[in-house]
Amino acid sequence: MIPDILDLVAGTMGSSTQAYIEEYRKILEEKMRYYLEYKDKSAQYVILDGERIIGFALAGVIDEKELDKYYFIDRSNPREPLSWIMLGQITVDADYRGKRIGSMLLDKIEQRAREMNLKGVYTGTRGNIRLFYEKNGFVIDKVYLKKTN
Ligand SMILES: CC(C)(COP(=O)(O)OP(=O)(O)OC[C@H]1O[C@@H](n2cnc3c(N)ncnc32)[C@H](O)[C@@H]1OP(=O)(O)O)[C@@H](O)C(=O)NCCC(=O)NCCS
Repeated sequence: MIPDILDLVAGTMGSSTQAYIEEYRKILEEKMRYYLEYKDKSAQYVILDGERIIGFALAGVIDEKELDKYYFIDRSNPREPLSWIMLGQITVDADYRGKRIGSMLLDKIEQRAREMNLKGVYTGTRGNIRLFYEKNGFVIDKVYLKKTN
């Protein structure tokens, strides 16, 4: 099942270079396998239409050793990131979009965060996908890029 999920995700990365897609497949596969070992701190959901995988989402509580990667979470309290679940991937097959499958996957992750007594769900996004999150009640929390002269 893992290769099929990776194919689904890679299929949505058309604007990325082939080298980046290959690299990302490896990173995601590693994360999926890690979260399978670490089920009490993570969540992975697959949506099927018959045998076809049409949706996937993965989230996990940020680990102590990963803390520095998530610089955009409030650093005034160094332990704050450990109180949120980080949504690492959400994908719906292009043939099935606009049918609330993505929203259902988000609901599942939110439910899991509540079960784990966490504060909520954090994620990163790009382009107009932001609207998908906003329609599901997410708000932007200070993410900037800058280059000093
Ligand atoms: C983002 C994604 C998961 C949404 O899945 P979906 O099942 O089509 O979403 P839903 O049907 O639950 O949409 C819920 C709402 O968000 C809106 N929405 C969904 N995707 C959107 C997009 N790309 N741009 C603008 N609005 C979007 C829908 O129009 C809908 O609005 P409505 O409530 O007014 O009808 C899916 O488009 C996808 O897999 N994209 C490619 C992978 C990706 O970019 N993942 C996110 C990484 S940050």
